[in-house]
Amino acid sequence: MIKVLSVFGTRPEAIKMAPLVKQLERDSDIESKVCVTAQHRDMLDQVLSFFNIIPDYDLDIMTQRQTLSQITSRVLMGMDDVLDSERPDLVLVHGDTTTTFAAALSAYYHKIMAGHVEAGLRTHDKFFPYPEEINRRLTAPLVDMHFAPTANAKNNLLSEGIGSDNIFVTGNTVIDALKWTIREDYVFENRALNDIDYKSHRVIAMTAHRRENWGEPLENICRAVQDIVQSYEDVIVVYPVHLNPAVRDVVYSLLGSTERVVLLDPLSTVDMHNLVKRSYFVMTDSGGLQEEVPSLGKPVLVLRDVTERPEAVQAGTVKLVGTDKEEIVKSAKKLLGDGAEYARMANAVNPYGDGNASERIVQAIKYRFGLADDKPEDFVPQD
Ligand code: UD1
Ligand code: UDP
Repeated sequence: MIKVLSVFGTRPEAIKMAPLVKQLERDSDIESKVCVTAQHRDMLDQVLSFFNIIPDYDLDIMTQRQTLSQITSRVLMGMDDVLDSERPDLVLVHGDTTTTFAAALSAYYHKIMAGHVEAGLRTHDKFFPYPEEINRRLTAPLVDMHFAPTANAKNNLLSEGIGSDNIFVTGNTVIDALKWTIREDYVFENRALNDIDYKSHRVIAMTAHRRENWGEPLENICRAVQDIVQSYEDVIVVYPVHLNPAVRDVVYSLLGSTERVVLLDPLSTVDMHNLVKRSYFVMTDSGGLQEEVPSLGKPVLVLRDVTERPEAVQAGTVKLVGTDKEEIVKSAKKLLGDGAEYARMANAVNPYGDGNASERIVQAIKYRFGLADDKPEDFVPQD
């Protein structure tokens, strides 16, 4: 038996690790353990409950308006006891949060092998996104197995000197998660979403919370939203607002009483994915949505200047619009007013995965530990 300890702490890590945890649990060669740092509390618990994951360890580190140093030190301190008592064969971390980096560092301090899921994403700009670009770059030398979602991510790792034998191109597990959530005739848990008439309105689903967008960029985004709904009477913007007070203060003060802007608390994953499915397009600064939405065939306007996920931009379904108010309004109006532009962007593309990433990762782990003969075939997107 290979003892695998999956460590995660925020909403996106949980959504993307959940299908993998389920796959690990199903495998008779693997003893699966879960440790949550709870860098997020409510937004993490929403995901654990949907996927029915009961953690073996919960570090419960979140505090209001926590600083990066507080997260890092609390994760490091908490992981010491967990790794000392559990001594797993492999620690799995995900992505680029401060939980990711601190948990990988802890595994290294304990000389325990580690694997990085969603490895190799890069913008090559250390402050965009902040602090994620540095979190993921610092995680790479600490771990032994790199699960790159795409060939492009693999190339980033190769160019940093990571050996090809340790890189597995798996696809992104977020596409696996869609198999759990997307349903025809879905009835939303959040009643406000059932009250919307999706036939007579065009719904723009949006999220914006990124640290580098706090302050003026987020204010610009909100003012762009006001302009968009005032220009099109059939448009409704649905914006589930992140629980971070730095985000909520700005968003509620600027958009709290704007007609046809529906501000909600964070949605469950299943509600969010099905909202995207019913929306006309999506505006976001989130990483995960840039991967999910293209596979659901909806255009995405990304409220950032750079992205570590260039594949869907190249495929034409994602457009980088930044945080300048006029640019956001211009791009949104183009999608709302120009049918040809909309049709050009609204193509289902799957550069990020085929729904089998978790299976590939489990096979790669078994291969590394001598329990499978073959390395898994690399994920290759289909046209
Ligand atoms: C974190 C990650 C970011 C990821 C994002 C996903 C870091 C540094 N940042 O950013 O990479 O994209 O999560 O959402 O790792 N809060 C609550 N309840 C919750 C969650 C958050 O009240 O369930 C509030 C708390 O006041 C907390 C604050 O939000 O202090 C910020 O949370 P934090 O994890 O530090 O930053 P995020 O912006 O969420
Ligand atoms: N999401 C969700 N509820 C919401 C908003 C987003 O479940 O109210 C999901 C979304 O579908 C995606 C993930 O959360 O899977 C993205 O997480 P987040 O935006 O917190 O972080 P990021 O992707 O920017 O790291």
